[in-house]
Amino acid sequence: MLTKSQAKLFFIIGTVLCVGTFLFLTVDTILKIPAQTRDANLTPAVERGKEIWDKNNCMGCHTIMGEGAYYAPELTKVYERRGPEWMRVFIKDPQAMFPGERKMVKYNFTDNEINDLIAYFKWIGEIDLNGFPPKPTLMSASTSTSTVKVAAPEKFTQICVACHAIAGNGGNVGPALDGIGVRRDAVFLDKWLRDPAAVKPGTLMPKLPLTDPEIKELVSFLSALK
Ligand code: HEC
Ligand code: HEC
Repeated sequence: MLTKSQAKLFFIIGTVLCVGTFLFLTVDTILKIPAQTRDANLTPAVERGKEIWDKNNCMGCHTIMGEGAYYAPELTKVYERRGPEWMRVFIKDPQAMFPGERKMVKYNFTDNEINDLIAYFKWIGEIDLNGFPPKPTLMSASTSTSTVKVAAPEKFTQICVACHAIAGNGGNVGPALDGIGVRRDAVFLDKWLRDPAAVKPGTLMPKLPLTDPEIKELVSFLSALK
């Protein structure tokens, strides 16, 4: 049995210890915020992107860090997952990228606004969240299989894999491109990539913003898939 004064002492020491620990952890957490949020990378573009995000109620469908609505994908790591190129094409015309699926609003943003949004997603994606969200098992753009001997061009892994698979890796909106070099010659591929609808009116493949060198690189890559 504790005496009265022992109990008092026990209470006081216990309280001081707990309050002390609590204060220490609070201060420690606050001190770590600038490093964890990469404070130095908070550019005006990121702030403008955040404003666009708020103003257009993107959270009405999406979540960031788990906050928001669950209709559309979590976007905390969307920059890492999709990359800036893909997002630029997608935000310009979401439906063209996923014809006939769930709908994302076409906002008619200017190029600058889209760049701000992408800057915002990049910043969000770099925040140190202690491993949140857990890495999903996504279709990887890796093409290191025996059927593919050439490395895929950057544009391919940034944009095309969202819809096309090679050796089982990639999306299934469009046909798998294994053996495309046998089915289609370079002239067709070149024409196709410039403007799919000009080759096949009504096709679901969107016209993508590709430069001449990029098309050339893609055509030689696709031609080698035999
Ligand atoms: C009405 C609901 C809705 C709103 C509002 C909305 N989105 Fe979306 N968004 C979607 C849906 C649905 C998808 C998934 C499309 C699919 O996969 O078919 C999507 C996908 C995306 C993606 C690609 C995610 C991925 O991993 O592929 C990005 C980036 C994105 N939205 C950004 C935004 C931004 C920025 C805003 C606000 C300016 C916004 N969205 C507002 C419904 C919405
Ligand atoms: C939004 C989805 C989407 C994206 C992104 C996309 N494609 Fe397609 N692609 C399609 C669809 C759908 C078809 C089938 C079109 C048809 O037959 O009407 C197709 C067809 C093709 C074909 C013709 C296949 C054949 O057997 O004739 C080639 C080649 C091709 N895509 C290459 C590419 C390349 C390279 C990229 C990236 C620069 C790309 N696609 C990006 C959806 C997409």
